[in-house]
Amino acid sequence: MKEHAIKLSILSVLADGSFHSGEGLGEQLGISRAAVSKHIKGIQAWGVDVFSVQGKGYKLAAPMQLLDQNELTQRINVPLELIPVIGSTNQHLLERISHLQSGSVCLAEYQSQGRGRRGREWVSPFGCNLYLSMYWRLEAGMAGAMGLSLVVGVAIVEAMEKLGISGIKLKWPNDLYFQDKKLAGILVEMSGQAGSAAHLVIGMGMNLRMANDTQGITQPWTSLAEVAQEDIDRNQLAAELINALEAALTEYEMTGMQGFVERWNRLDNFLNREIRLIMGNREVEGISRGINEQGAVLIETPAGLETYIGGEISLRKLE
Ligand code: ATP
Ligand code: BTN
Repeated sequence: MKEHAIKLSILSVLADGSFHSGEGLGEQLGISRAAVSKHIKGIQAWGVDVFSVQGKGYKLAAPMQLLDQNELTQRINVPLELIPVIGSTNQHLLERISHLQSGSVCLAEYQSQGRGRRGREWVSPFGCNLYLSMYWRLEAGMAGAMGLSLVVGVAIVEAMEKLGISGIKLKWPNDLYFQDKKLAGILVEMSGQAGSAAHLVIGMGMNLRMANDTQGITQPWTSLAEVAQEDIDRNQLAAELINALEAALTEYEMTGMQGFVERWNRLDNFLNREIRLIMGNREVEGISRGINEQGAVLIETPAGLETYIGGEISLRKLE
């Protein structure tokens, strides 16, 4: 834990993007230059681009705006845990569900075990993206969970539009795309049902300014820096997304999918495009026709309009 505290202190100094000498950093933190050098290696292992120049010291490739618990807390109405270095924000909340109030949020700067759907890795370098999870107690139970996961995607894109960021689209069931590249992913997980309510953890990872040479991602991806003209304030963005999620989940509890189908279809990246649905070793090809009131994906095939629903389906564009 203390190890992390020192690295985080070094990062808060380096965040301004200027050179800082190893000696100066050591003095500030009460550690040796050799210890600073060791911690810098640890920081690099978190995916941060730090370089050193003889006689000048250490410098980040680009300035970094860190998340700030006080600033965030002032902008939101739900309990927040900001844990800079974590395994997975979803896992953290799943392990604490019995103590949490619905709407509670966990945010991180780095995930060592960030995960996507079906156990795939979510690449989560430090300080350049958003890793956000919210716990929600869904009184309607499991039956409402599929719709909810679609509603979350719509709510996030609409919140981005309110911030003046346009052109973000949705890929069923819950990815955010920009120009056919993945910008963000949503993962809804649930913990055993106690009584009739469902206990859901909704996790979102959004790339903000991830380095182009980031390793480990197996499909085309993008960052918000490519989408938005201006630099986005990370604290403001995180707070807006938390508020949008809370509002959308509250609305969903009251009105269900009503009105959401049109909202989804407006934003569907693949609407009226040729796609392939992959379900284990079965595949269906046709034209994507959006979603229905149950949250199922619609595909027009030579055999007619077919609907598919379930967590094991992957949608791909036809090249
Ligand atoms: P589907 O769920 O439809 O199969 P998918 O291929 O997007 O879609 P997911 O499990 O939803 O798969 O997402 C995980 C995938 O996302 C990983 O296989 C990886 O290639 C990619 N990925 C991991 N980290 C990131 C990231 N930070 N940004 C964009 N993509 C990422
Ligand atoms: C996907 O596209 O497969 C979903 C990716 C979800 C990633 C987020 S980051 C915050 C939360 N914690 C995790 O471990 N995963 C989700």
